[in-house]
Amino acid sequence: MKIKNDLFLRALKGETVERPPVWMMRQAGRYLPEFMAIKEKYDFFTRCRTPELASEITVQPIRRYGMDAAILFSDILVIPQAMQIEVQMKPDFGPYLPNPIRSQIDVDKVLVPDVNEELDYVMQAIAATKEKLQDEIPLIGFAGSPWTILCYCVQGQGSKTFDKAKEFCFTQPEAAHNLLQKITDTTISYLKAKVKAGVNAVQVFDSWGGMLSPNDYKEYSWYYIQQIIDALKDETQVIVFGKGCWFALGDMAKSGAAALGVDWTCSARNARYLTGGKITLQGNFDPARLLSPPEVIKKMVTQMINEFGKDKYVVNLGHGILPNVPVENAKAFIDAVKEYKP
Ligand code: CP3
Repeated sequence: MKIKNDLFLRALKGETVERPPVWMMRQAGRYLPEFMAIKEKYDFFTRCRTPELASEITVQPIRRYGMDAAILFSDILVIPQAMQIEVQMKPDFGPYLPNPIRSQIDVDKVLVPDVNEELDYVMQAIAATKEKLQDEIPLIGFAGSPWTILCYCVQGQGSKTFDKAKEFCFTQPEAAHNLLQKITDTTISYLKAKVKAGVNAVQVFDSWGGMLSPNDYKEYSWYYIQQIIDALKDETQVIVFGKGCWFALGDMAKSGAAALGVDWTCSARNARYLTGGKITLQGNFDPARLLSPPEVIKKMVTQMINEFGKDKYVVNLGHGILPNVPVENAKAFIDAVKEYKP
């Protein structure tokens, strides 16, 4: 079925558009009262694992604001779970993995699962969401980058430095690469299954890529993201978002990805320069700027579009939306894009 509002898919292809499309990373989240109402009743992984809840949470921000794309409510950590690594989501703490991976013996125990079995609930959530969206807008599927998943698997929780994850890579590189390859193989079959289940594009979140030096980034992160792009690019459009990874934009632009995410520490001009001006870019509003008054947000969004240019561009934040953003400020962000006149 053709998607009625295909602005987002056309922008990914680099086609000329009336205005750029808009969505927000983590748009289904805690800044929405209707999200909090569901969160009060069900714990995190119950929300992920129940197709009716996951699909409902996915469409909540769409109903309220009318973004040009929906992103499936789920989490990047369903992958380690499916690989038989225990992952908990602790309230007011975040992800917690009680048995972190610290050796080759630990890596040997990690399974590359049959994703259609272990992650069937995600495929059902996609089907339920497609049913609710009625082909009005595209649905984005996602996965964490292998490096970002390794960060949690080894560190065991969030971190400002991911020192234990880096120590594992730099003292046991062979074990680290074995783990990264297992995560990559799982992620490829997972994203392929998501495409088959109906998502219209996929995004790889390399949230912690910016923890690595440019050389280490090539070895421990990019090498595996490139495998994912190679495996997926003939089936769907792939967006790569590397937080803090402006230094890699040049390589990323030659990778076969349809679009690249940019965070707010890289200017539009620099991002266009580094990528050669040909590839679609996505970003890069500072999420904390959504705390400015609505009229300031609107001005800044218009300026941001003018700096990136209306074509080959997807309006987004430079990282996930913060829980303390007022609902009317998120509305100002979306409305400013819809009201944009070249
Ligand atoms: O974008 C969306 O609306 C889709 C949903 C989505 C979630 N997580 C839901 C979620 C997406 C795309 C993610 C990806 C994700 N998860 C990333 C990559 C993106 C990024 O922000 O860098 C990462 C690093 C994770 C791991 C993760 N999950 C963390 C660090 C946390 C805790 C964060 C916090 O602010 O508490 C989670 C939990 C989580 N995943 C929440 C949501 C809405 C909040 C907790 C809850 O709802 O109970």
